Amino acid sequence: MQVKKAVVPVAGLGTRFLPATKVIPKEMLTVVDRPTIQYIVEEVVASGIKEVVLVTASGKNAIEDHFDYSFELESFLAQKGKLDLLKEVRHISRLIDVVSVRQKEPLGLGHAVKVTREVIGNQPFAVSLGDDLVDAATPCVYQMLQVFDRYQESVVAVQEVPPDQVDRYGIIEGEEVEDGVFRVHRMVEKPAVGTTRSNLAVIGRYILRPEIFDCLDRTLPGVGGEIQLTDAMDILRNERGLYAYRFKGKRFDAGDKLGYLKATVNYALSHSELGGSFAEYLRKIVSSLD
Ligand code: G1P
Repeated sequence: MQVKKAVVPVAGLGTRFLPATKVIPKEMLTVVDRPTIQYIVEEVVASGIKEVVLVTASGKNAIEDHFDYSFELESFLAQKGKLDLLKEVRHISRLIDVVSVRQKEPLGLGHAVKVTREVIGNQPFAVSLGDDLVDAATPCVYQMLQVFDRYQESVVAVQEVPPDQVDRYGIIEGEEVEDGVFRVHRMVEKPAVGTTRSNLAVIGRYILRPEIFDCLDRTLPGVGGEIQLTDAMDILRNERGLYAYRFKGKRFDAGDKLGYLKATVNYALSHSELGGSFAEYLRKIVSSLD
């Protein structure tokens, strides 16, 4: 079964980033030269996915507009002969087909996925969370699709985190069946520190079989009173099976101020035009700190 669609939930209020996100959606905050949401969409496009389903809420129109065709802007740039900029702007609007679904109430990540049922249909699909940026030689979603191809069961991306931080994530316990691939025995959302046998944390990339929708129907509110995707996935694990994959790449929590700064430095250093001079600037700053 081929994975053709990716769900990208963008309905959150971005409270961790106030006041920057009072008017601007957090997904539109810029890392170097593009909004964080563009990194997410470029990753799914590079993984062979053809359509993005945005789960939106009011005040998020800028995200849809960003991926839309802008007649005024493109004709202005063409007229002025600004061909490099025109190429960049066209690249964005031609990246992928974007469909939007509204999440009318903030009932949690599981609920955000649930509202895409009609658009997804009876197909496996990817879910990418906008806060998690993954810089990898092979796109993270592509790596996960390889695992899905082999096992034909849902796959979640994981990474080891410090044991005192397990309460910030979904945590999986499982047995390693091949290098970096785990058959999941248990999945729990934001467990109290010291209550799990593992520190393998869920990072916001999932490949889900469509049976997840039936599991979501049976998922009661969990941590924070929200419908948790983790809880629905634990039902799916119990009924069919579930795999976790320790992906290769660097992950940044762009929804957190320090994580966002780290992402900015990382992507600036690898930027084709800015990388060299930015590295030089950083070296100067670091030596002045000594
Ligand atoms: C969500 C998921 C959690 C996962 C995390 C990764 O939590 O519910 O399982 O570990 O994303 O970023 P949130 O960060 O939205 O609280």
